[in-house]
Amino acid sequence: MRAYADNDYPASHKPDWSIIAGLWPYLMEFRGRVVLALALLVLAKLATVATPVALKFIVDYLDQTRGVDLALWVPVMLVVAYGSLRFGATLFSELRDAVFARVAERAMRRVSLRVFEHLHQRELGFHLDRKTGGLARDIERGTNGISFLLRFTLFNIVPTLLEILLVAGILLVVFNVGYVLAILVAVVVYVAFSIRMTEWRTRFVREANARDNQSNSRAIDSLLNYETVKYFNNERYEARLYDQDLDDWEKARLKNRLSLAALNTGQALIIGVALIVIMAMAVGEVANGEITLGDFTMINAYLIQLFIPLNALGFVYREIRQALVNVERLFRLLGDQPGIKDAPDAKPLVVDNGDIRFEHIEFAYRPDRPILQGVSFTIPAGHTVAVVGASGAGKSTLARLLFRFYDVDSGSVCIDGQDIRTVTQDSLRSAIGVVPQDTVLFNDTLYRNLAYGRPEATEEEVHQAARLAHLENFIHSLPEGYNTKVGERGLKLSGGEKQRVAIARVILKNPSLLILDEATSSLDSLSEQAVLGALNEVSQQRTTLVIAHRLSTVRDANTILVMDSGRIVESGSHNELLAAGGRYAHLWEQQHRSGEQ
Ligand SMILES: Nc1ncnc2c1ncn2[C@@H]1O[C@H](COP(=O)(O)OP(=O)(O)OP(=O)(O)O)[C@@H](O)[C@H]1O
Ligand SMILES: [Mg+2]
Repeated sequence: MRAYADNDYPASHKPDWSIIAGLWPYLMEFRGRVVLALALLVLAKLATVATPVALKFIVDYLDQTRGVDLALWVPVMLVVAYGSLRFGATLFSELRDAVFARVAERAMRRVSLRVFEHLHQRELGFHLDRKTGGLARDIERGTNGISFLLRFTLFNIVPTLLEILLVAGILLVVFNVGYVLAILVAVVVYVAFSIRMTEWRTRFVREANARDNQSNSRAIDSLLNYETVKYFNNERYEARLYDQDLDDWEKARLKNRLSLAALNTGQALIIGVALIVIMAMAVGEVANGEITLGDFTMINAYLIQLFIPLNALGFVYREIRQALVNVERLFRLLGDQPGIKDAPDAKPLVVDNGDIRFEHIEFAYRPDRPILQGVSFTIPAGHTVAVVGASGAGKSTLARLLFRFYDVDSGSVCIDGQDIRTVTQDSLRSAIGVVPQDTVLFNDTLYRNLAYGRPEATEEEVHQAARLAHLENFIHSLPEGYNTKVGERGLKLSGGEKQRVAIARVILKNPSLLILDEATSSLDSLSEQAVLGALNEVSQQRTTLVIAHRLSTVRDANTILVMDSGRIVESGSHNELLAAGGRYAHLWEQQHRSGEQ
């Protein structure tokens, strides 16, 4: 199980160009569009390359016919051709973008969905380690990176190289080798310089991203803890911590910016020197009459036209490197295998009666701290077993193991004789209803939250479940009734209301097995009795694991297990345990006495 932390950017790591190959399927999805876009691209480049030729003819015509009574329509036609070529170049590239947009957007959609599904596949441990703010940033950057890679590798790097070759070819045909050599040298120096500089800069990009994740994680975490911050007047403390992160971020961004400025200046210098050299060569040849004024104009136009995409190439190379870094991180996230996965030959769980068996369970969240040590017990079909014991004894852990949020280190959990590791997670989880110790709700309406137990349930069924969970009076007292928004994480409801929503959901889910982890701990005794009655109805004939601190809620259980430090220290029915006079009897005594007072 690999934790997902923000700082695992290996700084020296080179980007993996093979990632581009991973984008191939997204291109293949729209073969026709890709081919059409490439055709439009070629048209656009041809128009671009032809434009300076038109310019040359205009200048030469005007130059040669100076003073002569010229036919105006010839240069006018040439000017029209020149303008049309320019327009054509833009038109074709815009059409190309329009045609290709679908491919890039669809790829982003597919990847976003894949990431989302993947994240839901990951085990609980991963999600407890994740930092939401940083993860969200990674996903955003990664999907944008994919779109960028698709659009620019295909439509910028390749065509720019194509254009350079075309221009070199024309210059070679029209002029002497000197120009071509000069241009090639400039291009080679330019490209080599850009690549070297960009390699060097990548570390700053990574660093800036890592710092960005860090500060974003901090901000989100701090806002999620709004109340806690207020309880302790720690706004300034939080701001200071955030500002420290922002300080790191600022420094990283600054390095990023400065190195970018150095890169841009270097590139401009190379272009400037090349322009001077080549134009000087042309000036000499015009003076000698070796080339015409039109040729001179054309060379100038080509140089400018060539260095613009070359400059863009520098930018694109840099951005592609950056996009590769981001996409790589996204793909790495996608490539991580879930820690809990279905066995290759996993079969659906078949619940017959629902007999649950924990056998010699050893379990630890981390190797250096054992939690459960040799826990064995059985919940016979249709029975209710209660687990009580000190906080931190491992009660909720039992529930997590049964739900297979984690796999046991040794021993096994079986339902009707099937080891839960040999059945599909989907079938296992659909058979079990859980009222968790802490209920968190979606930031949506009450109705949606209730119906979440079974989204296809009818309105009548949802209302019935709410009634059974004793939510009706509460809901009727709300001005907006079932349409009330419950706020982020359901914080606009009281603890007991949230708990009852969780119970109603489980009633709606109607599972074969039940786990109630402190399901009524936040209710007053009266509501608790009412809800317990409803739960008893639901749990009748169902195998149920109940966890509770308040012993009065579990006295009717068939068997009560007392846990301490990851072991079962006592077990029996309420009366047996009282008679035994052990830990349970002691606890009962204590709770009873404080209850009477
Ligand atoms: N994801 C985790 N990673 C590491 N340790 C964990 C994790 N979850 C729980 N623990 C530890 O495991 C121990 C048992 O936790 P568990 O939630 O099972 O306790 P519990 O008996 O339900 O306690 P309570 O009555 O307070 O709910 C605790 O000491 C807790 O700190
Ligand atoms: Mg617990």
